[in-house]
Amino acid sequence: MDYYSTLVFGSIFALIFLYTALQKLSIKKLPPGPSPWPIIGNIHLLGAKPHVSLTNLAKIYGPIMSLKLGQIATIVISSSSMAKQVLKNQDQAFSSRFIPNAIQHNYYKFSVACLPICPQWRTLRKILNTNILSPNNLDANQHLRSQKVKELITYCEKCSQQGQPLDIGHVTFKTNLNLLSNTLFSQDLADLFSDSKVELKEVIWDILTEVGKPNLVDFFPILEKIGLQGIRRRTSVHIVNVWVIGRDFTFWDDPLVFKPERFWSSDLDMRGQDFELIPFGVGRRICPGFPLALRMVPVILGSLLTSFNWKLEADIEPKDLDMEKFGITLAKAHPLRAIPFPL
Ligand code: HEM
Repeated sequence: MDYYSTLVFGSIFALIFLYTALQKLSIKKLPPGPSPWPIIGNIHLLGAKPHVSLTNLAKIYGPIMSLKLGQIATIVISSSSMAKQVLKNQDQAFSSRFIPNAIQHNYYKFSVACLPICPQWRTLRKILNTNILSPNNLDANQHLRSQKVKELITYCEKCSQQGQPLDIGHVTFKTNLNLLSNTLFSQDLADLFSDSKVELKEVIWDILTEVGKPNLVDFFPILEKIGLQGIRRRTSVHIVNVWVIGRDFTFWDDPLVFKPERFWSSDLDMRGQDFELIPFGVGRRICPGFPLALRMVPVILGSLLTSFNWKLEADIEPKDLDMEKFGITLAKAHPLRAIPFPL
């Protein structure tokens, strides 16, 4: 072997040795997790339903585990007690969001949901909490909510008379959208009675699907160099698997059975106090819309159930409705379409 070949091979071995040693050093500080493959890390373990794959991995590695998603070190929390320990004591450290590359360039600079904790985020949260979604303001807008729910029931009456099914997700989305747009701009944004081909819900859902799609740059920030954007400081993220926390057999009786009555005698606080039930998140990033959601969800559901009887559209089986579609939120794979008929 000549001098140059020895130099090249020697350098390659030295680099591999250095890389392996650094990997080991950094892994030592992290919670347990599956061994990462070169380059892709553990991405191949996520599959089409990451929430289910992460649940299965947590059975092996425990309620706090680490994964390497491409270049990104990811801490996954899979139990309520671990979520409490980590999120309550380290709220500040866990308060910044992982923002998909698809929306990093413009939108995120103005969105309360995407901004890191900073003065602009605090101002936006203050406007939401004190001006738009405060209990006083919501009480003052009670008439708006009644009006929008009445319109929803009128639409259901029309479907009932014609024996037509309606898409429950669709109509409740439009009702909520109109409620918000009336609160903010005194105007409806959606028409319950319109059959327009391109529905706003579809447009918004398509945007969310695009945003939720894994993008190479999200896992390999170094690729951003190609677009001359520079590498953002984003070396670690955390995921709280709320899906598995809500299905914890050691806490919930029959967690997979639909039993709304389980909440009748429960004094669990779902506003971020009891980590067994955190549909609105916890800490300083908790959903600011929860006072509105807590008013709207029972009123809409209660009005639909007490105004009509319901049957499923003919060719749909209840078991088909249990399927989930993974995305930025978990949606039903098949929408719930049902026909209202008089009580
Ligand atoms: C049943 C209805 C709802 C559920 C289950 C829900 C759930 C959530 C969750 C889990 C988060 C993330 C919290 C975290 O990171 O810890 C969130 C954030 C957020 N939600 Fe909601 N939400 C609902 C309704 C609403 C409504 C009606 C609004 C507005 C009117 C809203 C506005 C927001 C905003 C702006 C954020 C971002 C807050 C921030 O990052 O500072 N949500 N929501």
